[in-house]
Amino acid sequence: MNILLIGSGGREHALAWKLKQSPLCGRLFAAPGNPGIYEEADAAAIDIADHDAVAAFCSEYDIGLIIVGPEAPLVDGLGDHLRRGGFAVFGPDKAPAQLEGSKGFTKDLCTRAGIPTAGYSRHSDKASALAALAEFDLPVVIKADGLAAGKGVIIAENQQQAEAAIADMFGGGFGDAGAEVVLEEFMTGEEASFFALTDGRTIVAFGSAQDHKRVGEGDTGPNTGGMGAYSPAPVLSAALEQQVMDRIIRPTVETLGKESMPYNGVLFAGLMLTADGPKLIEYNCRFGDPECQVLMMRYTGDLAALMLAVAKGELAAADKPEFADMTALTVVMAANGYPGTPEKGGAIAGLEPQAGGKIFHAGTAMQDGNLVAIGGRVLNVTAVGANVTAAQKAAYAMVDRVDFPTGFCRRDIGWREVEREMQSEVESGGRI
Ligand code: AMP
Ligand code: GLY
Repeated sequence: MNILLIGSGGREHALAWKLKQSPLCGRLFAAPGNPGIYEEADAAAIDIADHDAVAAFCSEYDIGLIIVGPEAPLVDGLGDHLRRGGFAVFGPDKAPAQLEGSKGFTKDLCTRAGIPTAGYSRHSDKASALAALAEFDLPVVIKADGLAAGKGVIIAENQQQAEAAIADMFGGGFGDAGAEVVLEEFMTGEEASFFALTDGRTIVAFGSAQDHKRVGEGDTGPNTGGMGAYSPAPVLSAALEQQVMDRIIRPTVETLGKESMPYNGVLFAGLMLTADGPKLIEYNCRFGDPECQVLMMRYTGDLAALMLAVAKGELAAADKPEFADMTALTVVMAANGYPGTPEKGGAIAGLEPQAGGKIFHAGTAMQDGNLVAIGGRVLNVTAVGANVTAAQKAAYAMVDRVDFPTGFCRRDIGWREVEREMQSEVESGGRI
């Protein structure tokens, strides 16, 4: 079966790498792809914003499965267009993709389905948002409703910051994403990510992860798309995962189904583990980046078969996803300047394969025969180990062999778990 993979980041490199290991996978095409992805796939010269062109390519190359990696094409309706053309697509239609495309949509769905989440109010004008501030304690969370590449969330510590954030959003500071604003109660707890696959009827768990969103060590500085991640997330115990499935994921899928917006693909739930149990922070309608990279390092099944079963509505009959009983950890190497304006064109070397690890390309390009950085997040250096401490050690040993002088990375990915592992070693008298 020929497969078309849409996207060009580290997430898609990890998917391409895993798809290519499937006996089902014939020719794998990527649009637009990147130099790492091209080690596994052929470049498809199509503009993914041109939905007719994507459909024409799929007909011409007899594509049996289309996987849409990023959220923007899904929110833009690429899934609907290809499904209408009779193709098997992994990724939701435009209406259910609003789970990521509109924060207000998700909050209202939580209300209808009784899903635990932060209290909120929705506003389409500045005056009503400012007036509603009085109903929230500080800090208060202020969100641009639409897609804002992870930047549309402001945690205001005082009234002045809150008012400035609201003014900025309605003033166009976040483009169209800020035409509507959501105010939210601030939740406290540890964050974790949970993934589930669904064809709209059957739902299966697809692992957990934790990422580090802040650019600086000790989780300080501005937010980024994620500077590193590990899987599984030990804080998300089996009992908590069951709660997340029962109270958050299943009611979401069932409610969307009842309301004629059946969800197909991966649901990525960002969770706050509060004193009152897990609560939903947000949904994404695609895999996390770089969370996907660590999930793919641990997933032991046939990814093409599983994604095809989701796309065709046959998930009930598919093999249950299995994961290696070990930890995978990825360190993001970013270009200097990220998450502001990243330096472009920096040379990269030292990416020779290393046993037990994998370096995924996120923002790279070939220029005059040389590999260079062209994005903010450039490489995802990924390793496995018996626990987070071991996986972290292996990942940084790989990082140290990469030659990327215009890049940087955090040196503490996984620190929370490493501390807990150290603590439990102390408590057990040195025995783990
Ligand atoms: P989001 O893009 O909605 O995931 O938000 C980005 C980050 O903002 C999350 O990972 C949290 O760290 C933080 N955040 C969002 N909503 C809340 C909330 N209601 N309470 C506390 N922190 C939040
Ligand atoms: N790493 C967070 C995300 O993919 O949204």
